Amino acid sequence: MKFRPLRSAPHPASGTAEVAAPPETMRAVVFDAPGGPEALHEATLPVPAPVMSELLVRVVAAGTNPIDAKTRGGRGVFGAIDRHPSTLGFDFSGVVVSSPHEAHPLPPGTEVFGMVPFPRSGGSYAEYVVVPSLSVARKPAALSHVEAAGVPLAALTAWGLVVETAHAHEGQRVLIHAGSGGVGHFAVQLAAYFGAHVTATGSDRNLPWLRELGAAVVIDYATTRFEDVVGEVDVVIDLVGNAHDDTGSRSLSVLRRGGLYIMVPTGAWPGYAEAADAAGVRATSYKVVPDGGVLSTLARLLDSGAVQVYVDRVFDLTEAAEAHAELERGHSRGKIVLRVGDA
Ligand SMILES: NC(=O)c1ccc[n+]([C@@H]2O[C@H](COP(=O)([O-])OP(=O)(O)OC[C@H]3O[C@@H](n4cnc5c(N)ncnc54)[C@H](OP(=O)(O)O)[C@@H]3O)[C@@H](O)[C@H]2O)c1
Repeated sequence: MKFRPLRSAPHPASGTAEVAAPPETMRAVVFDAPGGPEALHEATLPVPAPVMSELLVRVVAAGTNPIDAKTRGGRGVFGAIDRHPSTLGFDFSGVVVSSPHEAHPLPPGTEVFGMVPFPRSGGSYAEYVVVPSLSVARKPAALSHVEAAGVPLAALTAWGLVVETAHAHEGQRVLIHAGSGGVGHFAVQLAAYFGAHVTATGSDRNLPWLRELGAAVVIDYATTRFEDVVGEVDVVIDLVGNAHDDTGSRSLSVLRRGGLYIMVPTGAWPGYAEAADAAGVRATSYKVVPDGGVLSTLARLLDSGAVQVYVDRVFDLTEAAEAHAELERGHSRGKIVLRVGDA
């Protein structure tokens, strides 16, 4: 007898439907060696096979993140890639093709979004991905796949920074650098949602939008030195660091004694811990966790409208090199997403 789930009605947040069996091969965008955006090229690869508790997902859209471009250029997680050609990409939104067992809560046909464990497996710039069940959640029903693909890595990072590390709460004063970027626009919304008083830096064109997202104070980093106007804060969420200027170093001077400095871009300021110690503040770096449970919570916030994702540009999978060039300019508002397949 065919297995019938106990829950007879479809899950309210996302539909399920019959799905076609996967083909043997798929389109993907890969790179063979470190290089510029032109290193990315199309390839035909075998469709990956799930084992144990993994899901096979047909990708409808893939989100891009700065770490994709860093890795393509030989930095980021390039050192952990053990074979080429390699498929980049952490974020995806798509449809489950096969589940580990009949009673699994995410059966074939379920619309899901999540993070691929790249570089341990192939990335999401491909028509199919294999992904651990625990790194996935039901796609928010209110979002398209393109919108949902812009969420996972950036929003999970923002949650990790704002909720799990800064413990955002009523009255807490938080300064967020690069509030208009992929991580920043989620961090501003989450910090405001949990009652913090948010100051965000961005360029002139993004300041009204940062206010709409919930920032009480906005600062144009191109014309104003934030330390001249910000006063004392409890937490700095630094999405810029010291790689291009001294944003990180200057951030220490606005923290109250014992305040918390969070350095997010890995490697952007190797000396942050010693400098923070000398300044009498606490400091930590951060690494995103692909937690499907947190992603489910974020999906509820997105479905309710309490948090929104902003997709700046959408490129076809075949235009991944252009998407990377845009990503590397470093001035996108919200997210850049690749359209991979049909919804
Ligand atoms: N450790 C981790 O787990 C983790 C996770 C996610 C991201 N990250 C890292 O965190 C950084 C941010 O990621 P992201 O995805 O948010 O990047 P992103 O979307 O590319 O950020 C772009 C934004 O940065 C703003 N910006 C650029 N320079 C700025 C400055 N000096 N001051 C204030 N804002 C500035 C730009 O604003 P304007 O256009 O207004 O100039 C733009 O909106 C990246 O280095 C990324 O690799 C680390």
